[in-house]
Amino acid sequence: MESRAKLAGHPVHQMLIVFPLGLLATAVVFDVIYLVTKNPAWSTSAFYMIGAGVVTGLAAAVPGTVDWLAIPRGTRAKRIGLIHGVGNVVVIALFALSWVLRRDQPANPPTEAVVAGLLGAGLSIVTAWLGGELVDRLGVGVDDGAHLDAPSSLTGLPAVAAGGSGAYPGMPRGYAGAERRHFPQPAYAGDDRRGRGSA
Ligand code: HEM
Repeated sequence: MESRAKLAGHPVHQMLIVFPLGLLATAVVFDVIYLVTKNPAWSTSAFYMIGAGVVTGLAAAVPGTVDWLAIPRGTRAKRIGLIHGVGNVVVIALFALSWVLRRDQPANPPTEAVVAGLLGAGLSIVTAWLGGELVDRLGVGVDDGAHLDAPSSLTGLPAVAAGGSGAYPGMPRGYAGAERRHFPQPAYAGDDRRGRGSA
């Protein structure tokens, strides 16, 4: 299912999520280093990273919600997307709580603040996996008919259009995405696919 919130041909959600994932995970690591070293530079950095992670997480949630609303009802993708979305709202809330609890003493965060961050990080592993399931397994945010030889997203052409070599090896010219699903495909292992049907 094609993303409904795109920039330069690619889903905005997948661009933005790197910020909360990177910032919040690193903040938790810095908290742990602070607990070991008691060097306030780590806890102070974690404080600012959590703030930036919460703001960028909220920003990433907007295009994610746009894409989720476009998923047809009654599908596994709709259910997984809902658990993913609600789970990430809880992740953001836990880190927001962690930020509020340490706001008056960023260099020396109370234990509850560190625990809230650790809980948020643990939950984000599950929600990120659900996000990957949405894309890699359920095809949400992937252009319909995407194939290995699709033309650039910047051409405005549909992914099913013939790309670099003019046709996907073994595929009839001008094929439509749907036919790909009926093509007998053993687990993809690079070279063996190219051997199939090449004239
Ligand atoms: C902190 C907030 C969030 C983070 C860190 C996050 C993270 C992710 C990750 C890691 C993926 C898989 C991306 C990939 O494999 O390329 C993903 C996909 C997705 N997420 Fe989120 N997510 C967040 C919030 C939300 C919310 C609130 C929703 C709304 C329901 C949502 C809906 C989706 C959808 C529909 C996809 C499929 C791909 C797409 O449409 O771009 N996400 N997310």
